[in-house]
Amino acid sequence: MEKLPILQFEDKIIDTVNKNIVTVLIGETGSGKSTQLSQILFRHGYANSGTICVTQPRRVAAVSVSRRVSQEMAVPLGQQVGYAIRFEDRTSPQTRIKYVTDGVLLRESLSDPELRSYSVIILDEAHERSLNMDILMGLVKRLVDIRGSSGFRVLITSATLEGEKVSAFFNGCPVLNVPGKLFPVEVIYRMDDDGGGGGFRSYVDAALKVAIDIHVKEPEGDILIFMTGQEDIEKLVKKLEDRVRSLEEGSVMDAVIHPLHGSLPPELQVRVFSPPPPNCRRFIVATNIAETSLTVDGVVYVIDSGYVKQRQYNPSTGMYSLDVVKISRVQANQRAGRAGRTRPGKCYRLYPYVVYKDEFMEAAVPEIQRTSLGGSVLYLKTLDLPGIDILKFDFLDPPSYGSLGDALRQLYLIDAIDEDGLITSVGRTMSELPLEPSLSRTLIAANENGSLSQALTIAAMLSAETSLLPSFVKGSEKKRKHTPLKLPDGDGLGDHIQLLQIYEFWSETNYDLEWCKEYGLQIRGMSFVKDVRGQLCQIMQKMAKCPMEVHGRHSSRERKLSYRNLRRALCVGYANQLAERMMRHNGYRTLGLKSQLVKVHPSSVLLPDEDGMLPNYVVFHELITTSSPFMRNVCAVEMQWISPILKKLENLDINKLSGGMSDLEDDTSGKVQDVLKKEAKDVESPADRDSKIQAARDRFLARKGKK
Ligand code: CDP
Ligand code: MG
Repeated sequence: MEKLPILQFEDKIIDTVNKNIVTVLIGETGSGKSTQLSQILFRHGYANSGTICVTQPRRVAAVSVSRRVSQEMAVPLGQQVGYAIRFEDRTSPQTRIKYVTDGVLLRESLSDPELRSYSVIILDEAHERSLNMDILMGLVKRLVDIRGSSGFRVLITSATLEGEKVSAFFNGCPVLNVPGKLFPVEVIYRMDDDGGGGGFRSYVDAALKVAIDIHVKEPEGDILIFMTGQEDIEKLVKKLEDRVRSLEEGSVMDAVIHPLHGSLPPELQVRVFSPPPPNCRRFIVATNIAETSLTVDGVVYVIDSGYVKQRQYNPSTGMYSLDVVKISRVQANQRAGRAGRTRPGKCYRLYPYVVYKDEFMEAAVPEIQRTSLGGSVLYLKTLDLPGIDILKFDFLDPPSYGSLGDALRQLYLIDAIDEDGLITSVGRTMSELPLEPSLSRTLIAANENGSLSQALTIAAMLSAETSLLPSFVKGSEKKRKHTPLKLPDGDGLGDHIQLLQIYEFWSETNYDLEWCKEYGLQIRGMSFVKDVRGQLCQIMQKMAKCPMEVHGRHSSRERKLSYRNLRRALCVGYANQLAERMMRHNGYRTLGLKSQLVKVHPSSVLLPDEDGMLPNYVVFHELITTSSPFMRNVCAVEMQWISPILKKLENLDINKLSGGMSDLEDDTSGKVQDVLKKEAKDVESPADRDSKIQAARDRFLARKGKK
């Protein structure tokens, strides 16, 4: 194999790392940053006094890259080279190179704030700007001050990132550029008058047409197609298979079609890295996972839908939406670049040039500015490090005060922080659980009222990476070979109880996989749930010293009681996610500061009773906007359980929670929000935007200082 670009810079890299505590390394995707940098440092003795830790924003990448490195070093995975992702640890005391997701590293820093076991920390794929990555950058910056003199080293790598910005954040550390040798890529746009008008169906079909055209007309070379998610990938794979089969045998070369996305079983994920059979064209239909995280060799043609699926959180409504949004120009160029790694290639963009030029933003909005911050703020509060003040925390791009306020409110309502914004013992316990705040709080409450076993099941079911239940199709039942048997219905109490009943039924069959099949449940997902449940159970036993679980059959009375206790615990955990039924039109109004009208998601098992009535009060797992605002995963609760929460809401003072501010909501923060709002509308130059945010932030902090 040809030498990867990064290896030609080995001496230069080592020289820079020897002389500097922090180094930023920018290199084209596929240049060898993820697989080679750790090995280079290993060869030069950087693992002699500790482990080299490499973070990845995606689980799939942590697994596949560590597997590759262990192969290259000819050692068994899990020994000298290993990985740790949430709910799965494949490392040993011998591990010298360890790949982790950024979330795992954050969690580790709770028990070892200075991360002493690591001699080197490589923050890889920084351009992805995941929420955890942004927080890690702030933390690592602190570590540099504390551990810098003892040989500790930090590397930050990126395919595209504004290197200078990160360098400035780390007090002007050096930026190394590894020039990748990219071959020219011809970019072909959709004609303006091709019709179609965008939209979901049209881009699946447009991709199909272009892919088949290439297959029939163009010389050999694999085709990488960027879609948005599992659903459209599966659709396109199916259509491609049909079309390829219908082509006359012998008229074109053979073809294999691989899907590639995060919820694919690992065995199928690694398949794309093994060389294809000779004289065979591969179609790889991927999410943006293949944009920079994973490099598949042999790609010569790229088809870019121009879309990505993104979860966005709106702190002013507390609402999530899973939107298919336009990618940024930076992303479009990354995607095109995938075609020119081994020889000149072609990129077919399924959108016209004007869309690229006028409608795409320059770069994507970092996750920290579009997600719920409850977990992260709890984490920062737990660290309790001297000088850590959430609002002063050194973020590369600070989140809006609205979303910080929202996070503080949630943490207060679920008792993780007290009215002065200080972490409570409940909050500390919560932070040890690898779950979102609402679920970790539920487990603690359930442990106190005797429904822990049931709550563990719920937490595990809701943590499944893929959807477990047969997919919900509006109106008619989806056509399938076997109609699955009818699942339990949650006894009219909602989706959480249904999830519990499903798992309990399954456990009574002694976890029979055939049973899952008959009921149309995702087998791999259910096995994952069982495993996760076991792990959560162990953590709870260690931490809360709760009794060992006794399994066994329950009488129906016992079962009813346990449902009740479970719902009560859920009500504590979801204190910030309450809704009250409206008198008319079976709609709901969310309770709290941001009251708004919502409905129960049609996929829910919570249906009106014989009188057409829904429960008066419910809690929900999340709010999601599709065609209109919906609550997803809903559980009926009782009035008397929520009154203490409503009382707490009355006395709520966000300003105090944030640490003594008196005018967080109005004046200054308003300006910050305005800046952010405006930012979403206009595309300003990054420098322009930064200085505006910075100015607003300075005003805000100055004000805070005066109080
Ligand atoms: O991180 P960066 O994008 O700079 O590159 P990398 O992930 O280290 O990939 C370097 C080379 O290793 C590429 O040619 C990949 O195709 C190959 N690789 C692989 O074959 N299997 C993996 N699981 C990961 C990388
Ligand atoms: Mg990489």
